[in-house]
Amino acid sequence: KSLNKQFYPHYHLAPYAGWLNDPNGLIYHDGLYHAFYQHHPFSSLWGPMHWGHATSEDMIHWQHQPIALAPGDEYDKDGCFSGSAVSHEGKLYLFYTGHIWLNGANDDSAIHQTQCVAISDDGIHFEKKGVVIPSPEGFMHFRDPKVWFQDGKWWMVVGARDALDQGQILLFSTTDLLNWNDEYQTLAKTEDKNVYMWECPDFFPLGNHFITLFSPQGKKSQDYQFRNLYQNGYLVGQWAPDQPYEITHQFSELDFGQDFYAPQTFLAKDGRRIAMAWMDMWESHMPSQEHGWSGCFTLPRELVLNDQGKIIANPIEELKTLRQDEKIIPSTILIKNTDILINENATCCELELVWDLQNSSAEKFGFWIGNGIQFYIDNQNQKLTLSRHYPKYIISDSRSTELPKTKQLKIRAFIDKSSLEVFINDGEQTFSCRIYPQDSDYTLKLFAINQSAKLDNGTFWNLERAIS
Ligand code: FRU
Repeated sequence: KSLNKQFYPHYHLAPYAGWLNDPNGLIYHDGLYHAFYQHHPFSSLWGPMHWGHATSEDMIHWQHQPIALAPGDEYDKDGCFSGSAVSHEGKLYLFYTGHIWLNGANDDSAIHQTQCVAISDDGIHFEKKGVVIPSPEGFMHFRDPKVWFQDGKWWMVVGARDALDQGQILLFSTTDLLNWNDEYQTLAKTEDKNVYMWECPDFFPLGNHFITLFSPQGKKSQDYQFRNLYQNGYLVGQWAPDQPYEITHQFSELDFGQDFYAPQTFLAKDGRRIAMAWMDMWESHMPSQEHGWSGCFTLPRELVLNDQGKIIANPIEELKTLRQDEKIIPSTILIKNTDILINENATCCELELVWDLQNSSAEKFGFWIGNGIQFYIDNQNQKLTLSRHYPKYIISDSRSTELPKTKQLKIRAFIDKSSLEVFINDGEQTFSCRIYPQDSDYTLKLFAINQSAKLDNGTFWNLERAIS
């Protein structure tokens, strides 16, 4: 069967067939970027987890590789769950969670998880070496190892859920990668009683701080819909080996869109800290499932920490190499209830807009993709909002965050068939979500409702490239 291209992205990593969730084992190794991912190759639904694999020279053009890990051994018979990669003495090591359901049950209370390793000489074929850390006493959920090297030791953070249902992160260490010390330190723990698990932890230096990144489960929704029951976020603090982690900045969200989960970071060949996430949520509707595939990664984003302890996330520079057919959008005033056509078929593109906030009194102004998506400045409520409305796919929701108090608002948006990623004021806020334009209506327009809005300037680029 040939690939149905209606929703298939041009410049994001997605499987041609089967299911994808979390990014795993992101690494630059032996001259290539490797991305692995949670994968069910036999259907577009979640199932016994494999590790899919792709390689790239630039983190944008991906080449699919054979499946790297398949479940089936005693300790991973029900799934090779999420994890990370390290490169050591020319070999590629994958650390992952061996997942089994005790007594053949398939529910949360019967989960048994251990940390396992597989090693490769050629970066393509992996040999499993079994369990390196058994499940510690008192923790049932114990998964998603992230490993790194620092100060003469290898370190591993693992997400865990204790008997009191408190999400937390455990820290282990070793000197030789295979013999891990069973003793652990509790690096950080939730203060929110509702949060029973911290999935996919990451722990890394940024600026002169250490970031703890994770995906909490159980967090109560705030003033928007149920979609932030599961979300992503980070803590900022100070850490040195064998010292406690001192938190200096409490929980912040990393992305304000509807679909952003399980981000993982790694170092690019030049030392930039890059993050990619799964651009879906567990409870999202996934219309591409009918086409035999589901799930894609976000764009790779470069992370830096600002002076206020906030992560700034910008699309990697390499993306500029995709720009074609540049079109300048001149300075314009959109008068009350008008719109401006930017492109009739904006399926794969980049859009930059600079709005003059001081001279825009419209109630709402921003851009539309077809009838389904609006991204706008909500002047009345001083918010930025991304709203989706696709009745055909039972999708109707919106998410908002504070409108920055700047004179101008710079928006950089990327559309790629079934995704939209918006970067505000050079990465101070980001919104990521999947989009499913009904009847393939990708008309891209600017709009202003009640009163006027002033656009200082804008640019549009086509980013389309052939997919076979
Ligand atoms: C996060 C997660 C991980 C787990 C994996 C299973 O999305 O639930 O905790 O390892 O997905 O596919």
